[in-house]
Amino acid sequence: MPQLLAPTADLHPAWLAAHDEWGPGLHEDSFGIGPDDDVRTTEGFATWVRSLREAGTDRGDGAVASWWIVEDGEVLGGIALRHGITPERTRAVGNLGYGVRPTARGRGVATWAVGEVLGRASSYGLEEVAVVCLVANRASARVVEAVGGVLSEVWDTPDGAVRRYRVQAPPLS
Ligand SMILES: CC(C)(COP(=O)(O)OP(=O)(O)OC[C@H]1O[C@@H](n2cnc3c(N)ncnc32)[C@H](O)[C@@H]1OP(=O)(O)O)[C@@H](O)C(=O)NCCC(=O)NCCS
Repeated sequence: MPQLLAPTADLHPAWLAAHDEWGPGLHEDSFGIGPDDDVRTTEGFATWVRSLREAGTDRGDGAVASWWIVEDGEVLGGIALRHGITPERTRAVGNLGYGVRPTARGRGVATWAVGEVLGRASSYGLEEVAVVCLVANRASARVVEAVGGVLSEVWDTPDGAVRRYRVQAPPLS
C-alpha cells in the first residue's frame, strides 16, 4: 500500500533510484526540481528537500505542497498541490502536478495519489482543483476522469492541445 510522505532527506538513495529511472532530460512532473538544484550530493539533496518542505514554498508557482509516493521504501512518484497560485497560473498549469516512475505505471498509483491529495485540498483552502494536461496525455486524462474531473476547457498551445479539468475537493470533515 503506498503512502504520501513529505519530502525527506532520509530517502535520498531511493529517490535517486527513481530519478535515474526517469532518465536525463525528461521533465519529472511534480518533483519541483529546478535547473540549479543539486540532487546528487547528500548536502545538495538535503538543501533541496528543505526548500520543498518549507511551508508556503514559492518556487515560481506560488505556494506548493509536495509529497512523494512511497511504497516499501521505494519512491514511486511525486505529487504537488499548487494551492497558492494566481488565477492566471491556475488556468495555465492547474493546481495539481503528478508523475509516476516508468516501472510503477499502469497499476493505479497516480489515481490513488490524486484521490488522496484531493482529500487534503480543502485544508489548503481549495474547494475545487484544476488539472491541466495535454490532450495527447491519455493516461493523465484517465487519472483525472477517474477521480471525477469534469472537462471545462480545451485550447491550443505551442506544445499541443491542452485540456483543463475541474475536480471538486471533498469538504473538510
Ligand atoms: C500520467 C501518469 C502519472 C499516470 O500514472 P499511473 O500510475 O500509470 O496511472 P494509473 O495507473 O493510476 O491510471 C492511469 C489510467 O490511464 C490509463 N493509461 C495508462 N497508460 C496509458 C496510455 N499510455 N494511454 C492511454 N491510457 C493509459 C490506464 O489504463 C488508467 O486508466 P483506467 O483506470 O481507465 O484503466 C504517468 O503516466 C506519468 O507519470 N506520466 C508522465 C508524467 C505526466 O504526464 N504527468 C501528468 C502531467 S498532467
